[in-house]
Amino acid sequence: MKQVLVTGGMGFIGSHTVVSLMEAGFRPVIFDNLCNSSESVLEGIARITGVKPLFIRGDVTSAADLKALFTSHNIDAVIHFAALKAVGESSEKPLEYYRNNIGGLICLLEAMQEHGVRDVVFSSSATVYGSAAHMPVDEDTPLPAAMSPYGSTKQMGERILFDTGSFRSVCLRYFNPIGAHPSGHIGELPLGVPNNLVPYVTQAAAGLRKALTIFGDDYHTPDGTAVRDYLHVMDLAEAHVAALNRLQQVQDRPHWEVFNLGTGNPVSVKTLVETFERVNGVPVPKVMGARRQGDVPELWANPGRAKQVLGWTAKHSLEEMLRDAWNWQQKLAQ
Ligand code: NAD
Ligand code: UD1
Repeated sequence: MKQVLVTGGMGFIGSHTVVSLMEAGFRPVIFDNLCNSSESVLEGIARITGVKPLFIRGDVTSAADLKALFTSHNIDAVIHFAALKAVGESSEKPLEYYRNNIGGLICLLEAMQEHGVRDVVFSSSATVYGSAAHMPVDEDTPLPAAMSPYGSTKQMGERILFDTGSFRSVCLRYFNPIGAHPSGHIGELPLGVPNNLVPYVTQAAAGLRKALTIFGDDYHTPDGTAVRDYLHVMDLAEAHVAALNRLQQVQDRPHWEVFNLGTGNPVSVKTLVETFERVNGVPVPKVMGARRQGDVPELWANPGRAKQVLGWTAKHSLEEMLRDAWNWQQKLAQ
């Protein structure tokens, strides 16, 4: 049974991945500074799996924290989620983003190197594609200049792993993860006003926000609203198990691969909101607004490589994603 370090494992995607890892027989060690999460996540995981995972509070930008961690635990592989992720904020505080996301990655890789740990799965993002000309995008699509410091940290993160020949790495480009564990014991915990669509939809439906603003209905898309590739966070969690298994299989070193993780199904904002209302039987108060700066009209994945190489496909429907998101929102209110 492999012991896997999960940086950022208390966060949205990390916590769901910890559940999948435990169910697949891995032993996760969560390492998180709780800058965007809460310790209560551990109870949620324990309610699902029956076991409270090991949690160490620490910072990936701290060489001392990492040294203490690697010295006291036998780590076989790393999944690196820990990062700051608010696109708008990254333009206001670029140095904070570079320090945390790039400084943190370098610090982590140095600690791994020092302790002979070679296998790493890196959280990248579909944001690396910017405003691509042809849909769906595959991994060979050339990457344009990043549209934000956040996007730049993901492009650089991939590049650092590519250049650092002594690791075996898999970079996962997530499209739009949404939903929650079907039990409702863990989910997304946005602090303050949500930036992302689905947490805003659930909070508006719950009466916590006056109305959802749909950012633009004048795009050249079928219904005028922007189109994305939403995937269930539990499907995304499973992809990390597949990525670890892949790293166990590959013999060559250095090794670097990148995979799109999405469903391949384009979904508009309007369709998503209508589906939410239909599946959950609740209205979402909404108003039409202007386009949000920096948004691309459409972005969806060709997930073929992940299917072919990792044997992974997203299984959950949009209905399931939105049902689980609402279930989580309702449990939060209890
Ligand atoms: P999240 O904010 O919920 O989780 C990130 C976790 O990392 C948090 O628990 C936070 O406390 C921790 N963290 C941040 N900086 C840290 C540091 N210096 N040291 C230790 N812990 C630190 O975010 P998420 O949605 O779960 O995203 C996880 C990863 O996936 C991030 O790298 C993000 O950029 C990437 N990603 C997310 C999305 C998305 O839609 N959520 C899309 C594409 C990529
Ligand atoms: C955003 C980030 C992306 C990041 C991802 C996950 C930008 C430009 N991109 O993706 O880098 O990886 O979040 O953190 O910020 N929408 C509304 N009303 C809202 C919120 C969103 O209409 O209140 C629309 C947006 O215009 C977009 C769609 O919903 O068309 C999805 O938005 P969001 O959930 O923020 O994800 P992305 O913008 O795709």
